[in-house]
Amino acid sequence: MCELYSKPDTLALRGKHIGPSCKVFFAADPIKIMRAQGQYMFDEKGQRYLDCINNVAHVGHCHPEVVKATAKQMELLNTNSRFLHDNIVEYAKRLTATLPQTLSVCYFTNSGSEANDLALRLARQFRGHQDVITLDHAYHGHLTSLIEISPYKFQKGKDVKKEFVHVAPTPDTYRGKYREDHEDAATAYADEVEKIIEDAQSRGRKIAAFIAESMQSCGGQIIPPAGYFQKVAEHVRRAGGVFIADEVQVGFGRAGRHFWSFQMHGKDFIPDIVTMGKPMGNGHPVACVVTTKEIAETFSSAGMEYFNTYGGNPVSCAVGLAVLDVIEKENLQGNAVRVGNYLTELLEAQKAKHPLIGDIRGVGLFIGIDLVKDHEKRTPATAEAQHVIYKMKEEGVLLSADGPYRNVLKIKPPMCFTEEDAKFMVDHLDGILTVLEEVTETKSDGVISENTVCRTKEVHVEQPNHGTTESRENHSRKRNGVCSDQRTLLSKRLKT
Ligand SMILES: Cc1ncc(COP(=O)(O)O)c(C=O)c1O
Repeated sequence: MCELYSKPDTLALRGKHIGPSCKVFFAADPIKIMRAQGQYMFDEKGQRYLDCINNVAHVGHCHPEVVKATAKQMELLNTNSRFLHDNIVEYAKRLTATLPQTLSVCYFTNSGSEANDLALRLARQFRGHQDVITLDHAYHGHLTSLIEISPYKFQKGKDVKKEFVHVAPTPDTYRGKYREDHEDAATAYADEVEKIIEDAQSRGRKIAAFIAESMQSCGGQIIPPAGYFQKVAEHVRRAGGVFIADEVQVGFGRAGRHFWSFQMHGKDFIPDIVTMGKPMGNGHPVACVVTTKEIAETFSSAGMEYFNTYGGNPVSCAVGLAVLDVIEKENLQGNAVRVGNYLTELLEAQKAKHPLIGDIRGVGLFIGIDLVKDHEKRTPATAEAQHVIYKMKEEGVLLSADGPYRNVLKIKPPMCFTEEDAKFMVDHLDGILTVLEEVTETKSDGVISENTVCRTKEVHVEQPNHGTTESRENHSRKRNGVCSDQRTLLSKRLKT
């Protein structure tokens, strides 16, 4: 529930103070969205926005198949999972079929936070350990139990880090402790986790879990180096802990070649618990934890039943099934590969042209543009990133900026994003960066703030074509070593 200090009317709120209980995109000039279709959103004046932000509307906003399935089940029955129902069984079967065989027990929840909270309970029950290792800048949800393990939140708030929480360095080979020139960044980052475990154990503490997103999103679109997860899993399991892969943002085929992002790290890496949410219901609140039989049996044998009033209800499962059908029918994974490759190519060309672009990284339709003030020091261009997202909004393109310095432009659009959309977005970005760089150059201090006036300049931008396009897949680009091809996993840095 979102309470506002002012009148609950977006127009009335423009330019005014919005209460802290409601954080909106583009707070200085928020948009009121009235309807959406596919990868487009429309405001109250009918202005169309290309949605590059929304990884929740996974198969496209208001997809007719999903809408139909929801309404059909809603008309027939919705009740809690204390009754037998085919939908929950069918959905659990379909989900587990996408995962390695050992991940065979599903618990349905209503949000990613609930899923991660339950994952922590399962992990702690498994061996009776309490401590959790999390990555720096990670976000895993809004419940108390998750704020505690989310440095993205607790480091900004007044909360101090709890004793049972251990923060490992983010395996970021662009800006992190070990970079792309390190001879083995994966091992170096995994060794940091091992050190944390040894240090905790020397103080009598016991590791219950290591939790990480398979690709870190709020942390700045970070793709861990190949081999990192395998090595971490070894250290953690040796300490009696389990590996939790948070796929709440990055699951359901966003990575393109793989349905789950953890799978791009190779067949020899299987987490003990996988959590999923956001894209799962295309906007409907449904989420899930999947784990092994052994972990599930330990949990139930302790006598604590798991019950969740709405989790796994027939409507949520019907929605989830419809989403899976659409991903398959429309080959959205193939689209993520094709359009993601094309978009990255366009962005690499922009990187060669614009000094503000320090790094382009990503997989499938999960891409980050790291803006920097200078290439050598990689100083984050935070104000510039904010300026760019506001200017892009004016041009009808919705982007967000995140990461510890809020300088990484995040691209994670609905999976029906087309090559025309990619070109449209990049052409606008090109125009905005060109003007911004001119302004920055002419200012002796090279400083730009969010209020810097951006001179308008005629920029030729092609309008996207609404039809679908069949276009070539770029085979030449090996993205972040994450192709199904095992050879590429040898690359030191999962980098394009
Ligand atoms: C990686 C990750 N995990 C968990 C969550 C929590 O999901 P929810 O907001 O559905 O509770 C989020 C939400 O942004 C997330 O990004």
